[in-house]
Amino acid sequence: MLLITGGAGFIGGNFVHHWFENNQEPVVVLDKLTYAGNAQTIAPFIADGRATLVKADICDRDTVRHLLAHHRPRAILHFAAESHVDRSIHGPAEFVQTNVVGTFSMLDEARLYWSALEGAEREAFRFLHVSTDEVYGSLGDHDPAFSETKAFEPNSPYSASKAGSDHLVRAYFHTYGLPTLTTNCSNNYGPYHFPEKLIPLMILNALDGKPLPVYGDGLNIRDWLYVRDHCEAICQVLKKGQLGETYNVGGINEIRNIDVVTTVCRKLDALRPRADGSQYESLITYVKDRPGHDRRYAIDPTKIQRDIGWKPAETFESGISKTVQWFLSNTEWVDHVRSGAYRQWIDTNYANRTAG
Ligand code: NAD
Ligand code: DAU
Repeated sequence: MLLITGGAGFIGGNFVHHWFENNQEPVVVLDKLTYAGNAQTIAPFIADGRATLVKADICDRDTVRHLLAHHRPRAILHFAAESHVDRSIHGPAEFVQTNVVGTFSMLDEARLYWSALEGAEREAFRFLHVSTDEVYGSLGDHDPAFSETKAFEPNSPYSASKAGSDHLVRAYFHTYGLPTLTTNCSNNYGPYHFPEKLIPLMILNALDGKPLPVYGDGLNIRDWLYVRDHCEAICQVLKKGQLGETYNVGGINEIRNIDVVTTVCRKLDALRPRADGSQYESLITYVKDRPGHDRRYAIDPTKIQRDIGWKPAETFESGISKTVQWFLSNTEWVDHVRSGAYRQWIDTNYANRTAG
């Protein structure tokens, strides 16, 4: 079986869906169920017994040790993290705790577990660390896309904490020989995306007739990848990745924020026209920028394409259509995650952003 940390979050949850579309091997999900974790996302698999959900903190080493001894996973897929850049600006401590200390806790317990394995079990074991392109910093307009050899230059507490976790993974491979793999992926979007992030926030604000808050000049660039393409990349790296290596994952889809927002608006105009006949774009509002806002991310996926044979299946056009459609059809999930705590965060993040 697989041990999946953060499997009730956005990407981890999509990974569980993706896994059971192609595999029967059971999974244990270790998730603290923070504001970003939602058991409902993987409920069908818990109900039919293919997934076991354990609500616990990755920093709780006794629990991690017990889970490893009891379930004897052949691999750990480590998704759990605090993941939102804006939240890391308001409260960085949680990011250091979960992303650095928590990853250390997972690595060290994995090392103890793996050291005691023998023969084929030991040979087959993998620790796959799911990381981000943000560790590489920000690109200028004409800089080449991030390759795996690009120096780390993280700019936010979030990306600095993820860079710290990546370094720990590297150290555990080189020092102890722990069989690690790391993926550094660009911006994901798709079903079950928590609506604090750009795309789901824009879809839901638009449907509510609320302002669509674009930071700064809206010309920051992200390299968008449909979440299921990321999940498939992780499956393939798990199967074929070379130990100790890192793989950049991206779909060559660089898009300016303002163009992402207008695309979402156009999809909604077609699928759910506004009652007064106006266009959703009229809700776009420029607001004060994010401090330290990285200008551009872009992934060079040459290595994963060449060595692993992975390629994305979705274009941005097809992926965003599926995503908008999903949010229109899954109002129960949306209502559930937009709790009191969610509304409080929206007030905290947007209250003092006067027009940019
Ligand atoms: P998310 O915030 O949606 O989900 C994180 C999950 O981790 C939640 O289920 C949460 O409950 C759980 N969690 C948080 N702290 C925990 C702790 N201390 N112990 C146990 N569980 C804990 O995040 P996501 O967007 O799904 O990202 C998953 C991983 O992928 C992260 O490591 C992130 O850095 C990385 N990543 C994300 C993106 C993206 O665009 N979202 C892109 C590249 C890489
Ligand atoms: O690049 C990978 C990273 O992508 C992941 O590691 C992170 O976990 C994930 O959250 C994401 O980080 P970003 O900061 O790029 O994503 P976010 O959706 O928060 O913002 C995308 C862009 O949109 C960014 O330039 C900021 C801008 N933005 C965001 C919000 C929430 C706005 O203009 N308005 C908003 O309200």
